[in-house]
Amino acid sequence: TAEGVPGGKNVTVEFEDGIAWVRLNRPEKRNAMSLELAIEMNEVMDALELDDRCGVFVLTGEGDAFSAGMDLKGFFRETDGMTDLHRKRAYRENRDWQWRRLMMYGKPTIAMVNGWCFGGAFTPLICCDLAISSDDATYGLSEVNWGIIPGGVVPKAVQTLVNDRQALYYMMTGETFKGQKAKELGLVNESVPADKLMERTREVAKVLLEKNPLVLRNTKLSYRYIQEMNWEQAGEYLMAKGDQTTFMDPEKGRHEGIKQFLEDKTYKPGLGAYSR
Ligand code: ACO
Repeated sequence: TAEGVPGGKNVTVEFEDGIAWVRLNRPEKRNAMSLELAIEMNEVMDALELDDRCGVFVLTGEGDAFSAGMDLKGFFRETDGMTDLHRKRAYRENRDWQWRRLMMYGKPTIAMVNGWCFGGAFTPLICCDLAISSDDATYGLSEVNWGIIPGGVVPKAVQTLVNDRQALYYMMTGETFKGQKAKELGLVNESVPADKLMERTREVAKVLLEKNPLVLRNTKLSYRYIQEMNWEQAGEYLMAKGDQTTFMDPEKGRHEGIKQFLEDKTYKPGLGAYSR
């Protein structure tokens, strides 16, 4: 794992020109998510949010799995035996990284689904801003197969992207599906052949790296926050957030963007970003 970053056991980080490749690293357990992994991921996410080497956060898995979901042993068996307070804390560690932090993360996030993706793994998948799948990846809402309802916030997350008919079909049958179907369902932006997965993810990450980082962050945060507002509130909030963005922007992007278009005539905002 990269120097100066926590983790290295259940989670590894590799930096490459502004991209942080963050890998769930329990390939022998198909990257099942244990409590130990959650604690480590929270530390890693904390560190990368303030680390300039991370311009885009890519979440993926080591080996042939993205993640086989919650660890039936290292999360459920373990937390089953805990007192109420310890159990609540364990669930909090898990929730923190899987949706609270990911959904509102200070850096753009891309889920790169390289293989098995089951149950609880849908939460971090959906809470990343973008997602790119391998055609080979296998998805399943398999909870019903082993006698539990989809828990955590899996159905809540699924509801934000997938329509009710499809969501209930896959939750009630536990049937698996592949990358192209995940695209059709709206779970991922695209699905590409396995040997093109990293290349395509890198390409998308590079587009994000060219944009003004504060504007990119506030674009994503405001989109998330307005989801639960009415139209009036959303309009007011977005005006305030826009003013805040302009006020806080160290590179004064709004001014520069208008100037380079209207006076310098060096670019067309409809077709690409201003020069930073
Ligand atoms: N929790 C705990 N251990 C797991 C999990 C998991 N979710 N997934 C895999 N493992 C372990 C296996 O027990 C096995 O351990 P062992 O080597 O000590 O016996 C090891 O990982 C390898 O797993 P295999 O089943 O041998 O791997 P295979 O490649 O044949 O199959 C598959 C992969 C299909 C992902 C299979 O492991 C599986 O069905 N896993 C469970 C998927 C699932 O339903 N997850 C729970 C979703 S519900 C939720 O997350 C709330």
